[in-house]
Amino acid sequence: MTDQGTQGTSHGPGGAVADSVDRRTLLRGSALAGAGVLAAGCSTAQAEIPSPKAAPNSARFDPRNWESIRAQFSLTRRYAHFSAFMLASHPAPVSAAIKHFRDGLDSFPQQYGLGMDDFRRSDDVRKALAGYIGTKAEQIALTDSATMGIGMVYAGLRLRAGDEVVTTEHEFYSTHEALRLRAQADGVVVRTIKLHDDPARASADQLVARLKAAITAKTRVVAVTWVYSSTGLKLPVKQVAAALAEINRRRDEQERVLLCVDGVHGFAAEDVTMQDLGCDFFMTSTHKWLFGPRGTGFVWGGPEAWARFQPVVPSFSMPAFTGWLTGRPPTGAPGDLATPGGYHSFEHRWALAKAVEFHQAIGKARVAARIRSQSDRLKEGLAGLGHVRLVTPRSAELSAGIVCCAVEGLKPEEVVGRLFEKHRISAAETPYRESFVRFGPSIVTDPREVEQVIRAMATLR
Ligand SMILES: Cc1ncc(COP(=O)(O)O)c(C=O)c1O
Repeated sequence: MTDQGTQGTSHGPGGAVADSVDRRTLLRGSALAGAGVLAAGCSTAQAEIPSPKAAPNSARFDPRNWESIRAQFSLTRRYAHFSAFMLASHPAPVSAAIKHFRDGLDSFPQQYGLGMDDFRRSDDVRKALAGYIGTKAEQIALTDSATMGIGMVYAGLRLRAGDEVVTTEHEFYSTHEALRLRAQADGVVVRTIKLHDDPARASADQLVARLKAAITAKTRVVAVTWVYSSTGLKLPVKQVAAALAEINRRRDEQERVLLCVDGVHGFAAEDVTMQDLGCDFFMTSTHKWLFGPRGTGFVWGGPEAWARFQPVVPSFSMPAFTGWLTGRPPTGAPGDLATPGGYHSFEHRWALAKAVEFHQAIGKARVAARIRSQSDRLKEGLAGLGHVRLVTPRSAELSAGIVCCAVEGLKPEEVVGRLFEKHRISAAETPYRESFVRFGPSIVTDPREVEQVIRAMATLR
């Protein structure tokens, strides 16, 4: 276990890692891959705006048929897409919704996109997300990415100099960097622990015990990831939450430890609600496993979490504008007030509801089961190859869709290059200090392609 002090960790880019992770690795791993003025926002000229065509669903879309689902994507069929979860390709209904809103905006942005139109459509998006994660729309802030949500939460939490954030050395860059910036700004102390020595042999009890042991009287936040993109390990978030609840029972409200989770690789890959997870803040993008519009995401927070958060970017929400116009501090839905304002690529944001609908038409549980059966088979196949070391745990308890491995005698980028060039398989190397080969079976891959990966990996002896 390491205590990194107020200057954050040495693991983020800019530290030792930057030297050892070359630029090519970062790029190939795809790691770095409205309001108007309220008073004028309610349009009187609405009727004159040419109405864009209703967003059509593809006539051939049969959500019970996996081939039909795959056919909604215009991904090239020349490759098997085991990295598609990193940045979404838009399925046909989402593309159609984006086009629908873009046509409206292009026809008359000042009338179509601003004021009440945005409030209404953004509310529809919040409601769709709330239904999907089993929570309330008012607790959801819309963002453009997981990184934006992570940055917002760690910058906006009400913490004092000397308060501690416990995080792990396994986090993605976004969490490490957000915490480094926070520590630099006001003396919040970031303590970085190692959750496990070998992810493949980790146990839920050991993961929880290490986190619990790191909590001190000064700890106010635990900053972790649900499914680690470094190894594919899935943190048993519910058990971590239960361990923290035990500690929190003995603490005053302001001193309780908040559990903040980067949920990006579990969201829309696992069939859970926020209640199932039991965390306080959940940050994700919706342009990964949900295959939602690129440049969309959200933060969900429970009431106690939002009460300890101070927005960092002015929202373009009704209460914030009203507060500004009347000279009174805004009151209103916390998610609305925390949503960063400014004009956005609204056609993408508003089309997010369609992505949720697309996913729900297939069925959350069916999507999760489809991902699980492919990743289970992939892990089984890889584990049977003598020259491959599986890094991701085998159990459903400690893994989700991501499958990471190492190949004896080959660097991850060599493996990824050979798979791409010789076998038409798109995989990635992980952009971390210790890099692995990473696959993400999803709704755009199928069991035959999983067998193709296993066969291809068998040739890399
Ligand atoms: C664990 C993890 N969190 C966050 C991100 C960044 O997500 P976004 O592109 O939505 O900011 C990534 C990778 O892209 C990731 O692997």
